[in-house]
Amino acid sequence: MVDLHTQRKWDKAASAFDLMSGMGAERRWLPHKQKLFGNMQGKVLFLALGTGLDIAAFPPGQDITAIDISPEMIKRARARMDDYSGSITAEVMDVHELRFEDGQFDQIYTSCTFCSVPRPVAGLTALKRVLKPGGELFMFEHTGSKYFPLNLSMKFMSIITEKLGPSMDRHTVDNVKQAGFHIVEVEHVFLDVVKIIKARKDSNNVVDMTESISNTHSALTT
Ligand SMILES: C[S@@+](CC[C@H](N)C(=O)[O-])C[C@H]1O[C@@H](n2cnc3c(N)ncnc32)[C@H](O)[C@@H]1O
Repeated sequence: MVDLHTQRKWDKAASAFDLMSGMGAERRWLPHKQKLFGNMQGKVLFLALGTGLDIAAFPPGQDITAIDISPEMIKRARARMDDYSGSITAEVMDVHELRFEDGQFDQIYTSCTFCSVPRPVAGLTALKRVLKPGGELFMFEHTGSKYFPLNLSMKFMSIITEKLGPSMDRHTVDNVKQAGFHIVEVEHVFLDVVKIIKARKDSNNVVDMTESISNTHSALTT
């Protein structure tokens, strides 16, 4: 049964979502998303589609299954889906209640999603179930910070932001590990807040790397 509280919250957020996301931020993250989504191959699941802002960063010609809990979000994504050169099939679905068979997908992509999913470890565990053996998880996410006073201010901000939309204080790398994935790489895009996480369903050929901070300098100076 779909989580109606979460669905209503995001349905309400849908009409102002593009404005609130900020076109400046979208432009800034675009090259990072393009690089990450450029890994798409095989049978791909994308979570969560939102109003389809991420579609601009998809490589051309892919065949993508997308889900989102909010029908209002998906309705607003339609025009962007229609403009895409490949095919995107979107379904209203709660990540906690995935209606896919086990081991369906080669890859799963998320974008600013696990700041919003109410039970992140359960949601990630559900994603793991629908990945094929050897399947890959690619995430572009914002999280809480380790550093004072940023960590404290994000914790307090979340009390308000969670009522209308996302949490600012998630520990997504830990959640991915708790769900039983094997971390391949964590790349910091902005401070230790915006990050790319690459993980695998199985431990084969995975070296659990410490977090790389390759882009922090450029992020701090822009
Ligand atoms: C911050 S928005 C990000 C949307 C899009 N990826 C983007 O970056 O523009 C978070 C999205 O997660 C969806 N969402 C929240 N909880 C969900 C759940 N349990 N299952 C599926 N989607 C969910 C919301 O409806 C919303 O569209």
